[in-house]
Amino acid sequence: MSVTVRVPAKVNVRLAVGAARPDGFHDLANVFLAVSLFDEVTATPADALTVTCTGADADRVPLDRGNLAARAAEMLAARAGIEPAVHLHIAKSIPVAGGMAGGSADGAAALLACDALWGLDTPRGELLDICAVLGSDVPFSLVGGAALGTGRGELLTPVDAGTFHWVFAVADGGLSTPAVFREFDRLTAGTAVPEPQASPQLLAALASGDAGALAATLANDLQAAALSLRPSLADTLAAGTGAGALAALVSGSGPTTAFLVPDPETAAKVAAALEASGTCRATHVASGPAPGATVLP
Ligand code: C5P
Repeated sequence: MSVTVRVPAKVNVRLAVGAARPDGFHDLANVFLAVSLFDEVTATPADALTVTCTGADADRVPLDRGNLAARAAEMLAARAGIEPAVHLHIAKSIPVAGGMAGGSADGAAALLACDALWGLDTPRGELLDICAVLGSDVPFSLVGGAALGTGRGELLTPVDAGTFHWVFAVADGGLSTPAVFREFDRLTAGTAVPEPQASPQLLAALASGDAGALAATLANDLQAAALSLRPSLADTLAAGTGAGALAALVSGSGPTTAFLVPDPETAAKVAAALEASGTCRATHVASGPAPGATVLP
């Protein structure tokens, strides 16, 4: 017997970053949108906790306790007073270290899969608490849809969202999230970093489903830092807007880039142009909002 959970990637339609806090984290106003690019995590009873992974870049996924899926299983087992005797298999489609919360997604999926496998029926609020300990983006991976994340991103308020179409361009290699935040600190040193806020215009555009309106208000405060560490991303962004994307931005801490398009036809055209441009390694077409982590029948 095994349990499989499907879990979405995310893009940040607004990532407003405040000054570094005493604990090293940054207060955020982080408007998450879950998109239809999914990992699947399958939990199967085993003698001990083991992790395997398949998919593009599976060789870059840690299979030890550095994997959030393994940590999720350990935390849930410890809470229940049982051994984490489970094999976790990750079928990976979300870019690794790409700024789309792929590792966080696997953590949330493993938590839900183990909860079902072990018949624990852990209350939703407790699952969310474990997610928040695992990482700032993990609660959103569990919840999905569209939400405003405050605090370090883990305090979620659902927001309304119409349907939006996207193209994602996968870069060679990943970017370290802590390194991108450190670069943000370096670039903003000596300046007054404002309180992070999601504008009413952005939230209204998101709710309306009007891609043109959303394109006019999208922004990522980590983009300058990601571009500073990976200047070639500017060419990818230009290739996508040149091909008809309404807006282009770095997804989260990057290096995946996200292109908002008006419809699926334009998505196919922009994806083909990006692939032909030689400025990225692969593309994915997706739409959002997508549901959060879900046990498959
Ligand atoms: O929460 P998570 O483990 O995903 O965060 C990874 C790293 O990203 C943190 O160690 C920190 O360096 C940075 N971070 C931050 N502020 C946030 C979220 C993450 O500085 N709100």
